[in-house]
Amino acid sequence: MQQESAKQNAYLVALQQSFQRDWEVEENLLELKELAQDAGLNVVDSFVQKRSYPEPGTFIGKGKALEIGDIVDEDSIVIFDDELTPAQQGNLSDLMDAPVLDRTQLILDIFAQRAQSNEGKIQVELAQLNYLLPRLMGKGKALSRLGGGIGTRGPGETKLETDRRRIRKRISDLREELEKIRQTRGLQRQGRKSTEMPVVALVGYTNAGKSTLLQALTGSDVYVADQLFATLDPTIRRWDLAPGRWAYLTDTVGFIRKLPHTLVAAFQATLEEVVYADLLLHVIDASHPQSLEQRQAVEEVLKEIGATVPVISVYNKVDLVDHPIEVRGPEQAVSAKTGFQLDRLAEAVDAFFAANYSVREFFFPFAKLGQANYLRENAHILAEEFGSEGLTIKAEVDQKTANMLRSFQR
Ligand code: GTP
Repeated sequence: MQQESAKQNAYLVALQQSFQRDWEVEENLLELKELAQDAGLNVVDSFVQKRSYPEPGTFIGKGKALEIGDIVDEDSIVIFDDELTPAQQGNLSDLMDAPVLDRTQLILDIFAQRAQSNEGKIQVELAQLNYLLPRLMGKGKALSRLGGGIGTRGPGETKLETDRRRIRKRISDLREELEKIRQTRGLQRQGRKSTEMPVVALVGYTNAGKSTLLQALTGSDVYVADQLFATLDPTIRRWDLAPGRWAYLTDTVGFIRKLPHTLVAAFQATLEEVVYADLLLHVIDASHPQSLEQRQAVEEVLKEIGATVPVISVYNKVDLVDHPIEVRGPEQAVSAKTGFQLDRLAEAVDAFFAANYSVREFFFPFAKLGQANYLRENAHILAEEFGSEGLTIKAEVDQKTANMLRSFQR
């Protein structure tokens, strides 16, 4: 096989347990290969070992590890498709005499390359350090190899030499900094909420076309790349749905199968947008051969982060599909690239919000004026008029708010 000289060589390893089918493992490996290439590595070969359960000390069998070690040279890197314990990672690295990474570290590495904002960078460093800390217990060769990441993008050799206490201090400093940024964002979110414009968040598997869709729908210039995880920082834009009616549209980090828990926590910033949104548009790459599995993976992550927001599926990239796509209810089949049926998507979202809202009139006697504030905070006020006995407000309200203030309705 011809190898590109500038790139580091990588070998992939997966364990196939009895409950896993051949195609499942193949698909996972294919995705791991894409991830590795995305991280700038040259994937030379992959190995699968069938075992009924992982070996506690070395994940795969010791003999297999030595066998792979014979093939791999010291400048290459070995990547496991599953999360390894710190001990397994250290043992494998010693047995194979090469650096060993797992899927989580590979994804963290890609995240480290992609993070653009200050916040994104802090989150990646935090996730990397948290992952690294228990792995600093090892000694000797294994330790010096861990955490260097691919190339120089990991926390780095110099940081490795610092002791655990310094890493802990750094983690707590980063957390504090992140907390400050989050508070600011919380205020911004409150600001948005007070305008009572709905917030719509785009979610979907990585590379499904979320950024392209955000750009096409809002006419804004968002960073779009045929790269995994191009979007790490929440982007919020105004989306005009119909004359006089608009919503906030926000992009989120792409989801992926086996998304490591450390990352779910680290990327709460963009995921927060999901939990607080009024509606999710689940962007599905209809042209992808694994679009069904990708869809399920996204649904699982949504469950994991506790999102209970209504979801409308949006089948994207239909320009690449030659068969009709079955859509139900408000679902839409679109092409973010050609603009096909984007107007219908806007109509469906507008209709979704319109169904929840109605225009009503409320009357608050002077003695109960405090209650009017609740309405002001939770509804779109259309008109207010003071009379001799109190305040009349005409507002567009959702069902819940209307019920809360039932006794003040005219
Ligand atoms: P992440 O940031 O990884 O989550 O990706 P994303 O979901 O934001 O995907 P992005 O918008 O970056 O698009 C990924 C690739 O798909 C880009 O090369 C886009 O040009 C392409 N793409 C997006 N929408 C369409 C579409 O409707 N048709 C076609 N043919 N390509 C599209």
